[in-house]
Amino acid sequence: MRWIQFKTAEEKNAKTKFVYFGDAQNNVLSDWSRVMRMAYQTAPDASFVVHAGDLINEAHRDQEWAEWYKAGGFIHSQWTAIPVLGNHEFRPLSRKDGDREISIQWRPQFTLPVEETLSEKLHETVYVVDYQNVRIIVLNSNYNLKEQTKYLEDKLKNSTAKWNIVTCHHSIFSPAKGRDFQYGRENWKPLFDKYNVDLVLNGHDHTYARGHVPEPREVFDESEEIKTVYVTSVSGPKQYKLNSEQLKDYVKQGYQLDKSGQYMQFFQVITIDQDKLTYVAYTATGDEYDRAEIVKDFETGEKKITP
Ligand SMILES: [Fe+2]
Repeated sequence: MRWIQFKTAEEKNAKTKFVYFGDAQNNVLSDWSRVMRMAYQTAPDASFVVHAGDLINEAHRDQEWAEWYKAGGFIHSQWTAIPVLGNHEFRPLSRKDGDREISIQWRPQFTLPVEETLSEKLHETVYVVDYQNVRIIVLNSNYNLKEQTKYLEDKLKNSTAKWNIVTCHHSIFSPAKGRDFQYGRENWKPLFDKYNVDLVLNGHDHTYARGHVPEPREVFDESEEIKTVYVTSVSGPKQYKLNSEQLKDYVKQGYQLDKSGQYMQFFQVITIDQDKLTYVAYTATGDEYDRAEIVKDFETGEKKITP
């Protein structure tokens, strides 16, 4: 037996640091473990980690979960996990046809909040975590989407957190070819706009893109006023080609791309200190790849991003 020590939450305005991973999914022990270790070297004092879905490839396969646990080793005990259900955790039990089911290991292995108001099928896949001055809303982008739209609005409406972050597996502004989560863009994005959500963290597309929805402005200045920042990332070795055309085309839907990347494994460290959120994406070898700073006026809700 070994003791694991960690810090519980502090006052509401204390600094919050966490790590966010896109899909680990494949070769988790051989190729993802190094990303997990580098993330721990970079942010050992992080309080929790968001795994934005597709933690493994074959939903019900014990061996893959065993690899996932082994890959993270003691770090899994050190960092509280906020897992998101991906499509690879929602597959038929047998390889042949059959209804898709949540990974049989999911509920026994993670202790997650049960939202009694939601249908049982969504339990432990849709929930909220309030930590210091941050609210994290976890959605399940695989099924029962309409039911979650109402849930999302309720949780944003009654949030008293200074910063609101939403995560789901499928990307609202998809950077990969042939991918399109139209429902999310048409039904969830308007709520992100309305309630001034700060960050949306996605996976699924095995590429990297960070963009934002700008606030309309009259004069150009260096730091720009924004609404929500959207990120899609990947931490595992499986990689897809970036669809730059599609990303550019999202301008029509009020999205502006800030940084993209392909054929790389990433992890992200997000630090929230009072009115400032610092977002940094690192490569598997620990080099900084992308950085943004958001400063928020809590009175007006106005936000500026740099660079
Ligand atoms: Fe996926």
